[in-house]
Amino acid sequence: MDDIKVKINDLTLHYGTNPALKNINMEIPEKMVTAFIGPSGCGKSTFLRTLNRMNDLIDNVKIDGEVIIDGLNIYNKDIDVVNLRKKVGMIFQKSNPFAKSVYDNVAFGPRINGISQRNKLDEIVEYSLKQAAIWDEVKGRLHNSALSLSGGQQQRLCIARTLAVNPDIILMDEPASALDPISTSKIEELIHELKQQYTIIIVTHNMQQAARTSDFTAFFYLGELVEFNKTEVMFSNPAKRQTEDYISGRFG
Ligand SMILES: Nc1ncnc2c1ncn2[C@@H]1O[C@H](COP(=O)(O)OP(=O)(O)OP(=O)(O)O)[C@@H](O)[C@H]1O
Ligand SMILES: [Mg+2]
Repeated sequence: MDDIKVKINDLTLHYGTNPALKNINMEIPEKMVTAFIGPSGCGKSTFLRTLNRMNDLIDNVKIDGEVIIDGLNIYNKDIDVVNLRKKVGMIFQKSNPFAKSVYDNVAFGPRINGISQRNKLDEIVEYSLKQAAIWDEVKGRLHNSALSLSGGQQQRLCIARTLAVNPDIILMDEPASALDPISTSKIEELIHELKQQYTIIIVTHNMQQAARTSDFTAFFYLGELVEFNKTEVMFSNPAKRQTEDYISGRFG
């Protein structure tokens, strides 16, 4: 049996009176890749954001239920949300590097955490960029603007920036959907490398990408978790008719 990193119990989320997530229960295994799939508007991004409390930033959101990470409900009143978001990092569809140098992007989080020694920062920056598979491309231009990088490089830089604060879990919301095929396959290879060390959850509209990159897949429809299964089972022998219709392209 795999170790469980995140356990979701009876999670319901409303935007105002609109229920966007309905009574979700799920166990996400540690150091594996879990993919979230489903048609537009089914609640994938909303659900992803509940895992590091990014929905706290949105007005009028009401959340019931529990998200247990390492045995602790992250919705407990005494949880330090800043720490939580370090531990559960997030990568977005549109890469969002700061208008700073490559180096300063990666050093940003560690500096906020109080690390100021140059050699220590150099070490973290190099290690994170290597882990994000972009070091060779940027090592000669660490002090150039991050905005001078290509789109695919910017996305890997954002991954390096997330890794630099030493997360356990990395949430990725369609991280490659704005990228060309070569950059996309670099991100997919990177996900494969990173899962040795991190628990990764990826939202994707690309069925081939879910099949290639993930160990487990969750299919959502209209705010409900329809099916959660091993990816190979989900794509070869889904338990539910709705899943089969979606992955075979009959709707969505
Ligand atoms: N900030 C918000 N305020 C109010 N309603 C929202 C908000 N964000 C999302 N919703 C609604 O919640 C539902 C789920 O949206 P969500 O963005 O989670 O879907 P999604 O599965 O990620 O879709 P997509 O594949 O298009 O990204 C939708 O009905 C959406 O309109
Ligand atoms: Mg979304």
